[in-house]
Amino acid sequence: MNERNQMPTGGGDAILMEGVGKRYGDKRALDGLDLAVRRGTVHGLLGPNGAGKTTTVRVLATLLRHDEGLVRVAGHDVRKEAAEVRRRIGLLGQHAALDEELSGRQNLEMFGRLFHLGARGAGLRADALLERFGLTDTGRKPVRQYSGGMRRRLDLAASLITEPEVLFLDEPTTGLDPRGRGEVWAAVRSLVDGGTTVLLTTQYLEEADRLADRISVVDGGRVVAEGTPGELKSRAGRDRVDVVVRDADRLDEAVRVLPFGAGETDVDRDRRLISAPVRDRMASLAEVVRALEAAGIEAEDVALRRPTLDEAFLRLTDGKREVAA
Ligand SMILES: Nc1ncnc2c1ncn2[C@@H]1O[C@H](COP(=O)(O)OP(=O)(O)O)[C@@H](O)[C@H]1O
Ligand SMILES: [Mg+2]
Repeated sequence: MNERNQMPTGGGDAILMEGVGKRYGDKRALDGLDLAVRRGTVHGLLGPNGAGKTTTVRVLATLLRHDEGLVRVAGHDVRKEAAEVRRRIGLLGQHAALDEELSGRQNLEMFGRLFHLGARGAGLRADALLERFGLTDTGRKPVRQYSGGMRRRLDLAASLITEPEVLFLDEPTTGLDPRGRGEVWAAVRSLVDGGTTVLLTTQYLEEADRLADRISVVDGGRVVAEGTPGELKSRAGRDRVDVVVRDADRLDEAVRVLPFGAGETDVDRDRRLISAPVRDRMASLAEVVRALEAAGIEAEDVALRRPTLDEAFLRLTDGKREVAA
């Protein structure tokens, strides 16, 4: 999925943020945020709740003024050339007011008329967008009958009425079931084939992994890691060994005798689980077994495994947070 990294013709940055700061009163929502997104790519802004994702999108979409730093979208400064920027962007949820009684097609036609496409132009555009998002048949039904995934796809279609160069999707699949999420993922992927640059925010590493060419991990209003999904996973996660001790009373003793780095060991008391990253898979496993035997501590399970995506994410956003917590 990440073969789209080559720079398309007319390349350059569709989005550029340098040292961007934004405060709400005393609260620093953005604290020196840097971001560069190549034209024609999907960029994931991945971070936990409160990281500053929505604030970033609102600054980029000219809905919110930043306090410091440089922000350019589609080659224009968001402060000095806000109108130029607005002409070139789309924002999912911007037209959140879908009319429940109208059909999907009628809703899209209405937005087209709103943007001065003319009756014929609006109809053609509506049909093209419905087809692109697999809503041609559904498009005749009233929106109130739509599933979550269909509705979000119609939102996407509506945000594309003006053929934006840059599209912002702020947590596009939050609240959807797995099926709806899959539908939206397919829709987002098809956008990039049409040349649109997409900035997508998400709390789900899996989502960024599936959709994004590059990911910026944000936490506390700044970027804490940046790279392709593959780069981030390999940087964040080493193989791990998990040890489940039989006797909960001997958990602390087991932590002491096991050959793991103190700062790297996660302990889950409820599950009697000790987990730590290892460098050399087989040698580490052998050392673990020997250490437990020497101390006479019985293990219910000792296993080597690859780090999960969630663990990689936790490590990137807060290295000291316990996975077990
Ligand atoms: N209007 C606001 N007034 C005060 N604080 C805000 C406001 N909007 C967001 N914040 C705070 O700014 C930080 C970043 O918020 P936000 O950009 O919404 O994060 P995210 O979208 O990643 O969850 C959070 O700590 C949030 O509580
Ligand atoms: Mg948000």
